[in-house]
Amino acid sequence: MCGIVGFTGVEQAAPILLRNLQKLEYRGYDSAGIAVECDGKIVSARAVGKLVNLIEQTEDGKTITGTCGIGHTRWATHGSPSENNAHPHMSNNNKFAVVHNGIIENYIALRAELTELGYQFQSETDTEVVAHLLEYYDNGDMKATVMKTVSRLQGSYALGIVCSDHPGELYAVKNQSPLILGVGINEFFFSSDVTALITHTRNVIYLDDGEFAHITKEGIQIYDEFGKEIQKKISRIDWSLEDAEKGGYDHFMLKEIMEQPKALKSAVEPRIINNVINLSEMGLSDDDLKKIDNIIITACGSAYHAGVVGGYVIEDLCHIPVRVEVASELRYRNPPMNERSLLVVISQSGETADTIAALKLAKESGIKTLAIVNVVDSTISKLADGVLYTNAGPEIAVATTKGYTTQVAVISLFAVYLSKLTGKISDEYYSELVADIKSLPERCQRVIDLNTKVEKLAKQYYNNQSLFFIGRNIDYAVSLEASLKLKEISYIHSEAYAAGELKHGTIALIEPNRLVIALACYEKTFDKTMSNIKEVKARGAKVLGVAQEDNKRIISEVDSTLFIPQITPILMPIIETVPMQLFAYYVARENGCDIDKPKNLAKSVTVE
Ligand code: G6P
Repeated sequence: MCGIVGFTGVEQAAPILLRNLQKLEYRGYDSAGIAVECDGKIVSARAVGKLVNLIEQTEDGKTITGTCGIGHTRWATHGSPSENNAHPHMSNNNKFAVVHNGIIENYIALRAELTELGYQFQSETDTEVVAHLLEYYDNGDMKATVMKTVSRLQGSYALGIVCSDHPGELYAVKNQSPLILGVGINEFFFSSDVTALITHTRNVIYLDDGEFAHITKEGIQIYDEFGKEIQKKISRIDWSLEDAEKGGYDHFMLKEIMEQPKALKSAVEPRIINNVINLSEMGLSDDDLKKIDNIIITACGSAYHAGVVGGYVIEDLCHIPVRVEVASELRYRNPPMNERSLLVVISQSGETADTIAALKLAKESGIKTLAIVNVVDSTISKLADGVLYTNAGPEIAVATTKGYTTQVAVISLFAVYLSKLTGKISDEYYSELVADIKSLPERCQRVIDLNTKVEKLAKQYYNNQSLFFIGRNIDYAVSLEASLKLKEISYIHSEAYAAGELKHGTIALIEPNRLVIALACYEKTFDKTMSNIKEVKARGAKVLGVAQEDNKRIISEVDSTLFIPQITPILMPIIETVPMQLFAYYVARENGCDIDKPKNLAKSVTVE
């Protein structure tokens, strides 16, 4: 939610800031702005709408000169997406400019206090208080001014600050929002995410909460919250540049769908050694795991849907109760947990505010926690007792694809590991499951090869304005994700329904030509789902049936079919979701939607 960047060096700052902001647009894209220090003055430009508007307004940054500046791409929280509310925000004396990602929770009180002191507010944002506090506390010593200002703030913030009295200098402050420093040669950067840095440098420093940095073109000094200088390790980013580029695809989403075999390989292959699952990297011991007799899984959005699949799989294999709850609900529910509980959080970004809050709640209760996360060194990965990285590589499209399938792969791997450890499955079944897990990349490629067929189906059905996804058991879990994918990028209304629940009310909405996508890949419930298909067909629905390739019986009952390769049932969700991602993609494309940047969304949701 919102991306911030900063640059100081010898080159012109504005074009670099704009290019780096482009890499962060997935974090928010309703307005953008930059501020550059030049000859003792701050010059800023802001524009409503996607970044391209700011790029046009500043002629690709050429109209703003100066070698030190900050930038922001916004997802509105406080105040509409207007130019006045766009960052950077300026102090009244125009000396300080500030960009911010996060929420200043005590901004109302601070705003009242500063208004009383005579400061004029130009925006409705929470951020503007920071600019005025900087002016208020300014005593010529920038470090002291920043520290005094930050001491007044409550909430989450990654801040970038530039001041006209301190040419060539940037300050970057981190508390509960991501902030990474880029270390180049005679040029230094900060950013909300490494994707904006890798075109410039692979050497980065991850700031921790409470830390702040003073950045000049000569170098970086980092301080702890008490102002004591500290040394931090420089990490090397091993993502390739191509990972963060479209690589010839029209959209990041399509590229990321196609990358799933590779991503699944990275998620599972290093963890299977001589046909045995090895999770020794996890940070939770076998003794810890053996004590577990109940699991709570929590996450948001698609990661929650991955958790729903995980719930079915763990219960099936480990025979222990699993509760799956969205994090925004769990955190306010006082859920029963005891010393034998394990909380599993799932998150692509590792920065989702509600998921972090639920994780902290569990930690306060003293229970063991495990995070399944993609972004290395993210907040969630650092907070949890154990971590399993999904190794999906950078995911740029707002609608997650490889992020989700790798989450499901990793939680399934964990379930198989736990079931073996606790003696719940036979050696034969274990070997069968391990072999099938190893085959996931190849089977995923086979569903990707259905691309042309799915594209045709999408062309046939793209103008339906409301539809249902139905399924039972893990097919139902997949239908939740299939429906969300379609909604978020094509804006078409759809609902995921447990097929058996239809007749308890929702069937009233089935009318002639209503499209129903019936997921019938789970063998155990295939016949039951077939009955539900008949029920909706009897009321005139058009049905697209999705089934395993040997279940040809479905053909006579539906209008169109999509057959997918067979795999052991508990791994089916990974294979089954891929054509649903492609379907959503092509439907959105037929409808002319902005696929990588759907309206109102942001990829990383760092606010409640
Ligand atoms: C946003 C994204 C979703 C994602 C969810 C959780 O809503 O658009 O794709 O599933 O946040 O994000 P996380 O980073 O925690 O997986």
